[in-house]
Amino acid sequence: MHFSSLLAVAALTTLASAAPVADNLRDLTYGDRTAYASAWNAGHAPPQQSYYPAPGGQGGYPPPPPPPSGGNNQPSPGNNGPGSPPPDNSQGIPAPPKQASDKPFALDNGFPTVPNPSDALTKINLAARGTLSNAPPPANPPSAQTLTSLKLIAFNELFETFYFTELLKNVTEGVKGYGFQDQALKKKVIDTLVAVQAQEQLHALNANNALNRFNAGPIKACQYDAPVDNFIDAIKLASTFTDVVLGTLADVSVVAGQNGDAGNIRGFTASLGQEGEQNGFYRDLLGKIPSALPFLTASLRDFAFSALNQNFVVKGSCPNIDTIDLKIFGTLTLETPGDIQPKDQNLDFSFPSGQNQGSGKLSLVYINQQNVPVVQPIQQLTAKGPDGKIRFSSPLPYTKNLMNGLTIAAVVDGEGPFPNITSVGAKTLFGPALIEIN
Ligand SMILES: *[C@@H]1O[C@H](CO)[C@@H](O)[C@H](O)[C@H]1NC(C)=O
Ligand SMILES: *[C@@H]1O[C@H](CO)[C@@H](O)[C@H](O)[C@H]1NC(C)=O
Repeated sequence: MHFSSLLAVAALTTLASAAPVADNLRDLTYGDRTAYASAWNAGHAPPQQSYYPAPGGQGGYPPPPPPPSGGNNQPSPGNNGPGSPPPDNSQGIPAPPKQASDKPFALDNGFPTVPNPSDALTKINLAARGTLSNAPPPANPPSAQTLTSLKLIAFNELFETFYFTELLKNVTEGVKGYGFQDQALKKKVIDTLVAVQAQEQLHALNANNALNRFNAGPIKACQYDAPVDNFIDAIKLASTFTDVVLGTLADVSVVAGQNGDAGNIRGFTASLGQEGEQNGFYRDLLGKIPSALPFLTASLRDFAFSALNQNFVVKGSCPNIDTIDLKIFGTLTLETPGDIQPKDQNLDFSFPSGQNQGSGKLSLVYINQQNVPVVQPIQQLTAKGPDGKIRFSSPLPYTKNLMNGLTIAAVVDGEGPFPNITSVGAKTLFGPALIEIN
């Protein structure tokens, strides 16, 4: 999954308010779709702002999607069973053109502003199959570091709510690329996504409520863009960013421990495990075993914040991102195409030219599981190509370390030593590139 390179997809953008409201666990209604309908009828996107250059730098809009075709070439989800038919995308409706919204993401139920108590919250709880905690907050106010962690969590969960809202809509409406032949599987996916979409809302509300208690919030929603257009890629992407969140919530817990916030850690790890349950389902859909590794891959708050901004957040659209004291590194792109195979191999990477290259003595670091980071000097950088990118390759020692699941790659300044992920983060210039194996 080439998280970053997917963003090269042209003039895209976001969905503002097509909001599923789960009145019960089955019946879904949606927000106002007239903007999509009129844009589709006109055959082109309305003349709104676009955020990414179109291929060839024309800055235009993508052409309308092609009419539904007679078949599709997509792989089928793994638990359709071997040899079973792929999702039936021939019945899919053409997706409306992507259009830029000039509003931050919001749902019809008021999210991200949902009072406690309220009817809206009761409905979210029902769909999420549980509630916000009614326990009093920890006696001590959180440290500045833990407030930063809560801001990151809110920032991430707002994006995740956007993502699963859009994914649920695509599956429910049978948008092209999101069709299913197996109606039982479709129902299971919808039932799951209804719960997940509500659970992500509660994760975001929980973090913002904690911030509000200490006048440090709320973190406001941005505009987002999901760089996918079919169910398999959407689930691969969800699995990848969920893996990053799992590692990051462990970092959040470490930072809380270091800063006297033990009282917050139970809540952080409760959502960590919850997201792990989600990822087991995504992996199952992809034909992988649900549990990837004995010990999941570590991440850092700065890696998660960088990945969100590099891949999903529409630049300049976040009203109070400047209140989040975390780093956004330069982008490191995995250039090796296709799914990365479980074997020793050279992987190709690139980063943009003209950005800080530190001392110039660069190393590539791979972080996988709870192992000591693999640090390798970068032997040779190619000159800047016509695309303005600098390329290099680096061996992946898969066999020795059984580097399954998520591997985080980063370009760091110097040769180390980098005995742990925190020391890697302190010297990172470009990253994270996200590699998923098995
Ligand atoms: C939903 O489908 C549209 C149309 O293909 C696509 O642009 C968007 O990225 C998809 N979103 C997700 C989360 O799959
Ligand atoms: C990480 O390594 C550095 C040395 O580079 C050390 O100072 C630090 O204590 C280590 N941190 C953790 C959490 O082990």
